[in-house]
Amino acid sequence: MSATPPTGTVGVPRHIAIIMDGNGRWAAQRNLPRIRGHEQGSKAAGAAVEACAECGVEYLTLYAFSAENWKRPRLEVNALMTLLEKFLKDKTPEMIEKGVRLQAIGRLHELPVSCQQELERSILATADGTRLTLVLALSYGGRNEILDAVKNILRSVEEGRLDRDALDETLFAQHLYTSQLPDPDLLIRTSGEMRLSNFLLWQLSYTEIVVTEKLWPDFSREDLAKAIEEFGKRHRRYGAV
Ligand code: FPP
Repeated sequence: MSATPPTGTVGVPRHIAIIMDGNGRWAAQRNLPRIRGHEQGSKAAGAAVEACAECGVEYLTLYAFSAENWKRPRLEVNALMTLLEKFLKDKTPEMIEKGVRLQAIGRLHELPVSCQQELERSILATADGTRLTLVLALSYGGRNEILDAVKNILRSVEEGRLDRDALDETLFAQHLYTSQLPDPDLLIRTSGEMRLSNFLLWQLSYTEIVVTEKLWPDFSREDLAKAIEEFGKRHRRYGAV
Protein backbone atom coordinates (compact mmCIF):
# COMPACT_ATOMS: atom_id res chain seq x y z
CA MET A 1 0.00 0.00 0.00
CA SER A 2 2.71 2.44 1.03
CA ALA A 3 4.53 4.25 -1.79
CA THR A 4 7.65 4.78 0.30
CA PRO A 5 8.48 1.52 2.05
CA PRO A 6 10.99 1.40 4.92
CA THR A 7 14.52 0.38 3.90
CA GLY A 8 16.56 -2.58 5.08
CA THR A 9 13.97 -4.36 7.25
CA VAL A 10 14.52 -8.12 7.49
CA GLY A 11 13.34 -10.92 9.79
CA VAL A 12 9.89 -12.50 9.67
CA PRO A 13 8.01 -11.01 6.72
CA ARG A 14 4.92 -9.08 7.70
CA HIS A 15 3.10 -10.12 4.52
CA ILE A 16 3.72 -13.33 2.56
CA ALA A 17 2.06 -13.93 -0.82
CA ILE A 18 2.10 -17.41 -2.36
CA ILE A 19 1.61 -18.66 -5.91
CA MET A 20 0.55 -22.23 -5.14
CA ASP A 21 1.69 -24.00 -8.28
CA GLY A 22 2.16 -27.66 -9.18
CA ASN A 23 -1.05 -29.39 -8.08
CA GLY A 24 -1.58 -30.86 -11.56
CA ARG A 25 2.00 -32.14 -11.82
CA TRP A 26 1.79 -33.65 -8.33
CA ALA A 27 -1.28 -35.62 -9.44
CA ALA A 28 0.22 -36.58 -12.82
CA GLN A 29 3.33 -38.00 -11.12
CA ARG A 30 0.99 -40.37 -9.25
CA ASN A 31 -1.31 -41.15 -12.18
CA LEU A 32 -4.14 -39.43 -10.35
CA PRO A 33 -6.75 -37.01 -11.71
CA ARG A 34 -5.74 -33.35 -11.40
CA ILE A 35 -8.41 -32.72 -8.79
CA ARG A 36 -6.58 -35.04 -6.36
CA GLY A 37 -3.67 -32.64 -6.65
CA HIS A 38 -5.95 -29.71 -5.84
CA GLU A 39 -7.31 -31.59 -2.82
CA GLN A 40 -3.80 -32.09 -1.47
CA GLY A 41 -3.08 -28.48 -2.38
CA SER A 42 -6.01 -27.39 -0.27
CA LYS A 43 -4.54 -29.30 2.69
CA ALA A 44 -1.16 -27.64 2.12
CA ALA A 45 -2.96 -24.26 2.10
CA GLY A 46 -4.53 -25.05 5.48
CA ALA A 47 -1.12 -26.01 6.88
CA ALA A 48 0.47 -22.80 5.54
CA VAL A 49 -2.23 -20.69 7.22
CA GLU A 50 -1.58 -22.44 10.53
CA ALA A 51 2.19 -22.09 10.23
CA CYS A 52 2.00 -18.39 9.32
CA ALA A 53 -0.33 -17.69 12.26
CA GLU A 54 2.14 -19.42 14.57
CA CYS A 55 5.32 -17.69 13.39
CA GLY A 56 4.12 -14.09 13.55
CA VAL A 57 3.31 -13.38 9.90
CA GLU A 58 0.52 -10.77 9.86
CA TYR A 59 -0.83 -11.22 6.31
CA LEU A 60 -0.90 -14.25 4.03
CA THR A 61 -2.24 -13.89 0.49
CA LEU A 62 -2.91 -17.11 -1.42
CA TYR A 63 -3.44 -17.14 -5.20
CA ALA A 64 -6.30 -19.65 -5.07
CA PHE A 65 -8.01 -19.02 -8.43
CA SER A 66 -6.78 -16.69 -11.15
CA ALA A 67 -8.84 -14.80 -13.73
CA GLU A 68 -7.20 -17.10 -16.31
CA ASN A 69 -8.20 -20.29 -14.44
CA TRP A 70 -11.74 -19.93 -15.86
CA LYS A 71 -10.26 -21.25 -19.13
CA ARG A 72 -9.67 -24.69 -17.57
CA PRO A 73 -12.06 -27.57 -18.32
CA ARG A 74 -15.45 -27.03 -16.72
CA LEU A 75 -15.08 -30.13 -14.56
CA GLU A 76 -11.84 -28.84 -13.05
CA VAL A 77 -13.27 -25.36 -12.47
CA ASN A 78 -16.33 -26.86 -10.73
CA ALA A 79 -14.11 -29.09 -8.61
CA LEU A 80 -11.98 -26.10 -7.56
CA MET A 81 -15.11 -24.14 -6.57
CA THR A 82 -16.41 -27.11 -4.56
CA LEU A 83 -13.02 -27.41 -2.88
CA LEU A 84 -13.04 -23.72 -2.02
CA GLU A 85 -16.48 -24.02 -0.40
CA LYS A 86 -15.33 -27.07 1.55
CA PHE A 87 -12.18 -25.26 2.67
CA LEU A 88 -14.26 -22.34 3.94
CA LYS A 89 -16.80 -24.57 5.71
CA ASP A 90 -14.14 -26.78 7.33
CA LYS A 91 -11.63 -24.08 8.26
CA THR A 92 -13.85 -21.27 9.54
CA PRO A 93 -14.21 -22.64 13.12
CA GLU A 94 -10.44 -23.19 13.26
CA MET A 95 -9.78 -19.70 11.89
CA ILE A 96 -12.01 -18.19 14.57
CA GLU A 97 -10.22 -20.19 17.27
CA LYS A 98 -6.76 -19.20 16.02
CA GLY A 99 -7.53 -15.50 15.47
CA VAL A 100 -7.35 -15.67 11.67
CA ARG A 101 -9.35 -13.01 9.84
CA LEU A 102 -10.41 -13.94 6.31
CA GLN A 103 -10.56 -11.51 3.41
CA ALA A 104 -10.81 -11.97 -0.36
CA ILE A 105 -9.63 -10.02 -3.40
CA GLY A 106 -10.57 -10.37 -7.07
CA ARG A 107 -13.70 -10.12 -9.17
CA LEU A 108 -15.64 -12.01 -6.51
CA HIS A 109 -18.97 -11.41 -8.28
CA GLU A 110 -17.76 -13.86 -10.97
CA LEU A 111 -17.71 -16.76 -8.48
CA PRO A 112 -20.71 -19.10 -8.20
CA VAL A 113 -23.33 -17.62 -5.86
CA SER A 114 -22.92 -20.46 -3.34
CA CYS A 115 -19.18 -19.68 -3.14
CA GLN A 116 -19.84 -15.98 -2.70
CA GLN A 117 -22.26 -16.77 0.13
CA GLU A 118 -19.83 -19.11 1.89
CA LEU A 119 -17.07 -16.53 1.51
CA GLU A 120 -19.29 -13.80 2.93
CA ARG A 121 -20.19 -16.02 5.89
CA SER A 122 -16.55 -16.85 6.66
CA ILE A 123 -15.43 -13.24 6.28
CA LEU A 124 -18.13 -12.08 8.71
CA ALA A 125 -17.53 -14.93 11.15
CA THR A 126 -13.77 -14.28 11.32
CA ALA A 127 -13.91 -10.47 11.29
CA ASP A 128 -12.61 -10.14 14.87
CA GLY A 129 -9.41 -12.13 14.26
CA THR A 130 -6.28 -10.13 15.06
CA ARG A 131 -3.45 -12.65 14.69
CA LEU A 132 -3.27 -13.26 10.94
CA THR A 133 -5.19 -11.87 7.97
CA LEU A 134 -5.67 -14.56 5.35
CA VAL A 135 -6.43 -13.10 1.92
CA LEU A 136 -7.73 -15.43 -0.79
CA ALA A 137 -7.19 -14.15 -4.33
CA LEU A 138 -10.19 -15.47 -6.28
CA SER A 139 -11.03 -14.79 -9.91
CA TYR A 140 -8.06 -12.48 -9.46
CA GLY A 141 -5.95 -10.91 -12.19
CA GLY A 142 -3.40 -8.17 -11.60
CA ARG A 143 -4.18 -6.41 -14.88
CA ASN A 144 -7.93 -6.55 -14.16
CA GLU A 145 -7.27 -5.07 -10.74
CA ILE A 146 -5.32 -2.16 -12.24
CA LEU A 147 -8.04 -1.59 -14.87
CA ASP A 148 -10.76 -1.63 -12.19
CA ALA A 149 -8.77 0.94 -10.21
CA VAL A 150 -8.32 3.17 -13.28
CA LYS A 151 -12.06 3.03 -14.05
CA ASN A 152 -12.94 3.99 -10.45
CA ILE A 153 -10.47 6.84 -10.49
CA LEU A 154 -11.77 8.15 -13.84
CA ARG A 155 -15.33 8.03 -12.52
CA SER A 156 -14.31 10.00 -9.43
CA VAL A 157 -12.55 12.62 -11.59
CA GLU A 158 -15.51 12.89 -13.99
CA GLU A 159 -17.94 13.32 -11.10
CA GLY A 160 -15.73 16.00 -9.55
CA ARG A 161 -14.92 14.00 -6.41
CA LEU A 162 -11.22 13.75 -7.25
CA ASP A 163 -8.74 16.25 -8.61
CA ARG A 164 -6.67 14.67 -11.42
CA ASP A 165 -3.49 16.30 -10.09
CA ALA A 166 -3.97 14.66 -6.69
CA LEU A 167 -3.31 11.24 -8.23
CA ASP A 168 -0.09 9.74 -6.91
CA GLU A 169 1.11 6.23 -5.99
CA THR A 170 -0.56 6.30 -2.57
CA LEU A 171 -3.91 7.40 -3.98
CA PHE A 172 -3.70 4.85 -6.78
CA ALA A 173 -2.96 2.05 -4.30
CA GLN A 174 -6.03 3.13 -2.33
CA HIS A 175 -8.14 2.13 -5.36
CA LEU A 176 -6.72 -1.40 -5.60
CA TYR A 177 -8.46 -4.45 -4.09
CA THR A 178 -5.59 -4.49 -1.58
CA SER A 179 -6.13 -0.93 -0.31
CA GLN A 180 -6.27 -2.18 3.29
CA LEU A 181 -3.17 -4.40 3.05
CA PRO A 182 0.55 -3.66 3.19
CA ASP A 183 2.50 -4.74 0.10
CA PRO A 184 3.90 -8.29 0.34
CA ASP A 185 7.44 -8.53 1.72
CA LEU A 186 7.96 -12.06 0.42
CA LEU A 187 6.52 -13.85 -2.61
CA ILE A 188 6.85 -17.64 -2.63
CA ARG A 189 6.24 -19.59 -5.83
CA THR A 190 6.30 -23.37 -5.85
CA SER A 191 7.13 -25.85 -8.62
CA GLY A 192 10.12 -23.96 -9.98
CA GLU A 193 8.38 -21.58 -12.40
CA MET A 194 9.89 -18.09 -12.64
CA ARG A 195 6.75 -16.10 -13.48
CA LEU A 196 4.41 -13.68 -11.74
CA SER A 197 1.39 -15.05 -13.65
CA ASN A 198 -0.60 -11.81 -13.35
CA PHE A 199 -0.42 -11.85 -9.53
CA LEU A 200 -0.33 -8.57 -7.54
CA LEU A 201 1.49 -6.75 -10.34
CA TRP A 202 1.49 -3.35 -8.62
CA GLN A 203 2.03 -4.63 -5.10
CA LEU A 204 5.05 -6.88 -5.81
CA SER A 205 7.27 -4.01 -7.01
CA TYR A 206 9.72 -4.32 -4.09
CA THR A 207 8.88 -7.81 -2.88
CA GLU A 208 11.60 -10.41 -2.33
CA ILE A 209 10.94 -13.56 -4.39
CA VAL A 210 11.71 -17.13 -3.33
CA VAL A 211 11.05 -19.92 -5.84
CA THR A 212 11.13 -23.49 -4.65
CA GLU A 213 11.16 -26.66 -6.77
CA LYS A 214 8.66 -28.29 -4.40
CA LEU A 215 5.21 -28.87 -5.90
CA TRP A 216 2.54 -27.09 -3.86
CA PRO A 217 0.89 -30.23 -2.35
CA ASP A 218 4.34 -31.15 -0.93
CA PHE A 219 5.02 -27.67 0.48
CA SER A 220 5.51 -28.13 4.21
CA ARG A 221 6.11 -26.03 7.31
CA GLU A 222 9.83 -26.71 6.85
CA ASP A 223 9.68 -25.29 3.33
CA LEU A 224 7.93 -22.20 4.67
CA ALA A 225 10.56 -21.85 7.40
CA LYS A 226 13.31 -22.16 4.74
CA ALA A 227 11.72 -19.46 2.59
CA ILE A 228 11.46 -17.16 5.62
CA GLU A 229 15.11 -17.88 6.47
CA GLU A 230 16.13 -17.04 2.90
CA PHE A 231 14.11 -13.80 3.16
CA GLY A 232 15.98 -12.96 6.36
CA LYS A 233 19.29 -13.05 4.46
CA ARG A 234 18.18 -10.54 1.86
CA HIS A 235 19.06 -6.88 2.16
CA ARG A 236 16.18 -4.79 0.90
CA ARG A 237 17.27 -1.51 -0.61
CA TYR A 238 14.16 -0.34 -2.49
CA GLY A 239 16.34 1.23 -5.17
CA ALA A 240 18.62 3.01 -2.69
CA VAL A 241 22.27 2.05 -2.11
C1 FPP B 1 -1.94 -24.48 -9.53
O1 FPP B 1 -1.78 -25.83 -9.81
C2 FPP B 1 -3.00 -24.21 -8.56
C3 FPP B 1 -4.23 -23.71 -8.85
C4 FPP B 1 -4.72 -23.49 -10.20
C5 FPP B 1 -5.18 -23.31 -7.85
C6 FPP B 1 -4.71 -23.37 -6.44
C7 FPP B 1 -5.72 -24.11 -5.67
C8 FPP B 1 -5.47 -24.85 -4.59
C9 FPP B 1 -4.16 -24.94 -3.93
C10 FPP B 1 -6.55 -25.67 -4.00
C11 FPP B 1 -7.63 -24.87 -3.38
C12 FPP B 1 -7.14 -23.82 -2.49
C13 FPP B 1 -7.83 -23.33 -1.48
C14 FPP B 1 -7.29 -22.22 -0.67
C15 FPP B 1 -9.13 -23.89 -1.12
P1 FPP B 1 -1.85 -26.25 -11.33
O2 FPP B 1 -3.12 -26.98 -11.52
O3 FPP B 1 -1.62 -25.10 -12.22
O4 FPP B 1 -0.61 -27.23 -11.40
P2 FPP B 1 0.24 -27.59 -12.69
O5 FPP B 1 0.92 -26.33 -13.13
O6 FPP B 1 1.19 -28.62 -12.17
O7 FPP B 1 -0.73 -28.14 -13.70
